[in-house]
Amino acid sequence: MARFFSTLLALIALGVFPAIATPPPPSSISTFNPFTGKTFFVNSVRAAAVHKAANQIAASGDFALATSAHKVAQVSTFHWVDKTAAIPSITTWLNEARQAQIRTGKSQVFQLVVYNLPDRDCSAKASSGELEYANGGEEKYKSFIHQVRQRLAAFPDIRIVIQLETDAIGNMVTGLSVPKCANAAPAQKRSYAYAIANLQLPNVALYLDGAHSAWLGWPGNIEGAANNLIEIVNAAKALNPRATVRGVSTNVSNYNGLGNQEQTGYDELVYVQNLAVLLKAQGWDAHFIVDQGRSGNQVALRSGGDWCNFKMAGFGPRPSTNTPSELIDAIVWVKPGGDSDGTSDTTAERFDEACGSSTSIIPSPEAGAWNQLAFISLVKQANPAF
Ligand code: BGC
Repeated sequence: MARFFSTLLALIALGVFPAIATPPPPSSISTFNPFTGKTFFVNSVRAAAVHKAANQIAASGDFALATSAHKVAQVSTFHWVDKTAAIPSITTWLNEARQAQIRTGKSQVFQLVVYNLPDRDCSAKASSGELEYANGGEEKYKSFIHQVRQRLAAFPDIRIVIQLETDAIGNMVTGLSVPKCANAAPAQKRSYAYAIANLQLPNVALYLDGAHSAWLGWPGNIEGAANNLIEIVNAAKALNPRATVRGVSTNVSNYNGLGNQEQTGYDELVYVQNLAVLLKAQGWDAHFIVDQGRSGNQVALRSGGDWCNFKMAGFGPRPSTNTPSELIDAIVWVKPGGDSDGTSDTTAERFDEACGSSTSIIPSPEAGAWNQLAFISLVKQANPAF
């Protein structure tokens, strides 16, 4: 070996080989875990909402619970851009992340959900959004994505992770008997691909939505999940050949466990492992993030229909890069616990039956609004406890 190197050095000295090889191209953000070595950014507005809720608990006399509730403010959650009017918040949030990075000297990872696909939440009603294909939605969504990109582009110094369009893929796989979903699916695939192709920035890692194990984890559904994901990534590459995607998010806004469930279809680890195999077979070495924000209490039995303000939910494992599989980049909290999944008001336009079921917290406000009763039960049933 030593002889080989001395020969090599002699050849370099003779100018046979250039002493400095051409540097390799910079590695894409999609080739490494974007969370590694980063601090999960905690937003002050969310923290203030949690403290306010905890103070309310204290005012009712339950001081022990209030003490636990205050601690929830330290946990990082994703930020949701769920409508055009929310776009300016991106700048506010990222400015705060930048300040935190400067102040603490700790490099931050900022987590964002981009959630405004036209005809979104097509099989339910609780989270239907502002855009519709029948009403110019495709062009409006393009403009929405451009505005998001523009805001992100002003923060090249912050690592950004994006979870793209919660539930979209799930509805493409199992929602096709619902006319709204069937009509929207081809256009939604185009829009999804458009978002991927246009949210490519050197500091931004993308995760597409893989729904969750109790939805797409079953044989018969999981193949459709993989095929739709691959089809969309390929469509994005057709629009932008340099487009890359880090992976897939699972369990967003749901309640499944990770590596601790016996019941088929209720463990995200099993789902991630199975889905990774199918994606790899089609050439995509995908990595995963798994929402565990409301997955703490795995004791209660739950049916697939129990997605709305589930009574038995508890805060779950905290965001971390310490995960049970190399496939999983991070455990994350995507759905901010304490935000409602949907209104229980039967007269509301977005009322969904699932939000009025006996397993849901009633009363509950509109999706995304603060739900004090849900917050209280999440703290009470947290595992690990706060
Ligand atoms: C709602 C969004 C909200 C998000 C986070 C979704 O269910 O539709 O409006 O931003 O949850 O709470």
